[in-house]
Amino acid sequence: GALILLFLFVVRVSPPGCPAPERPLEILEVPTWPVPRVHPPPAPCRANFSVAAHPDFAEMPERVRDFLLYKHCRNFRLLQDPPPDKCAGSVFLLLAIKSSPRNYERREVVRNTWGRERQVRGARLRRIFLVGTDGDPHQAFKVNRLLELEAKTYGDILQWDFQDSFFNLTLKQVLFLSWQESRCTNASFVLNGDDDVFAHTNNMVTFLQGHDPDHHLFVGHLIQNVGPIRVPWSKYYVPKLVTANERYPPYCGGGGFLLSRFTAAALRHAAPTLDIFPIDDVFLGMCLQQQGLAPASHSGVRTAGVQSPTKRLSSFDPCFYRELLLVHRFQPFEMLLMWDALSRPNLTCGQQGRVY
Ligand SMILES: *[C@@H]1O[C@H](CO)[C@@H](O)[C@H](O)[C@H]1NC(C)=O
Ligand SMILES: *[C@@H]1O[C@H](CO)[C@@H](O)[C@H](O)[C@H]1NC(C)=O
Ligand SMILES: *[C@@H]1O[C@H](CO)[C@@H](O)[C@H](O)[C@H]1NC(C)=O
Ligand SMILES: *[C@@H]1O[C@H](CO)[C@@H](O)[C@H](O)[C@H]1NC(C)=O
Repeated sequence: GALILLFLFVVRVSPPGCPAPERPLEILEVPTWPVPRVHPPPAPCRANFSVAAHPDFAEMPERVRDFLLYKHCRNFRLLQDPPPDKCAGSVFLLLAIKSSPRNYERREVVRNTWGRERQVRGARLRRIFLVGTDGDPHQAFKVNRLLELEAKTYGDILQWDFQDSFFNLTLKQVLFLSWQESRCTNASFVLNGDDDVFAHTNNMVTFLQGHDPDHHLFVGHLIQNVGPIRVPWSKYYVPKLVTANERYPPYCGGGGFLLSRFTAAALRHAAPTLDIFPIDDVFLGMCLQQQGLAPASHSGVRTAGVQSPTKRLSSFDPCFYRELLLVHRFQPFEMLLMWDALSRPNLTCGQQGRVY
């Protein structure tokens, strides 16, 4: 057996016979990596084990236990920072897109479709992806390298050194708000959304141009009169140990919502005064409530997906989407198809056959 293994190993590593190159191979210039900017690393945040003494703690799902042990941690090192001129001049709409480290394909398609940095009727759009680090240390090493490459190529990665997980989305949100305060406070409006939504950014500009960035605006898919889900197998399970309250304040579904810079500042004031709550969109509802503000509904935001209004239209028909602001959830290939269809100047809707 050992001999066979040795044989296989030798066969595998011996180079295949290559014809000698006719001229010497050109030496490609090896790109030099920029020296990473030095940020003073915050002291590592230690778990607060006092909650572990609670009789219910041991039987909680792992993500709940993790949340409880680390929820006081709010300072994390910045691993990738967009270039200083990201928000130079006057930015009308900042697209702040929550993305998991490995979602490279989704980021690529967003860059090439609705998230392209451009001007729409004179309004400047800027894009950043909000990313944490992969929970698996081996993957994290690889994926951090990928994000470094993306940051270098596109200048659109904002990454922190915390574990990117569902229950850490609130942390992402809070860290983004404080980043925005120092780096992009001038942007008139922010779209805060997931990387698997289709955002009709042109329609958003039209909608937002009718609003004052220095007044309250927080719109999306409004959710009211709901409370914590108490079944442990749900993704949204929130046990009594996290909150005993049976009611959530009104909030907008986290898939995508729009806010003004006035409201972003209000959220920034509220966030440090509240305990982190693991569901990020509910947490923002709590922040709004604390500031005496309310979220509003926009019928063009469909974070729960869409149903075609008539049998004749497929639920993927661009004629249907051209009226909307944002729809959850799209596969990367669907985003490209939809963007292409909506960008056709001659997209005609009406009696003729469907586009898809
Ligand atoms: C640890 O948690 C307990 C409650 O579980 C709290 O009273 C205490 O202030 C926390 N300590 C720190 C350092 O956050
Ligand atoms: C912020 O916007 C104002 C105009 O709204 C502009 O005069 C100012 O230069 C901008 N500041 C920065 C830092 O871009
Ligand atoms: C959130 O991130 C911190 C830092 O990486 C980690 O210690 C904690 O376990 C994470 N919490 C959850 C719920 O994933
Ligand atoms: C619509 O425009 C596209 C190019 O943008 C063209 O390929 C297509 O043939 C046009 N369709 C019609 C019906 O004019």
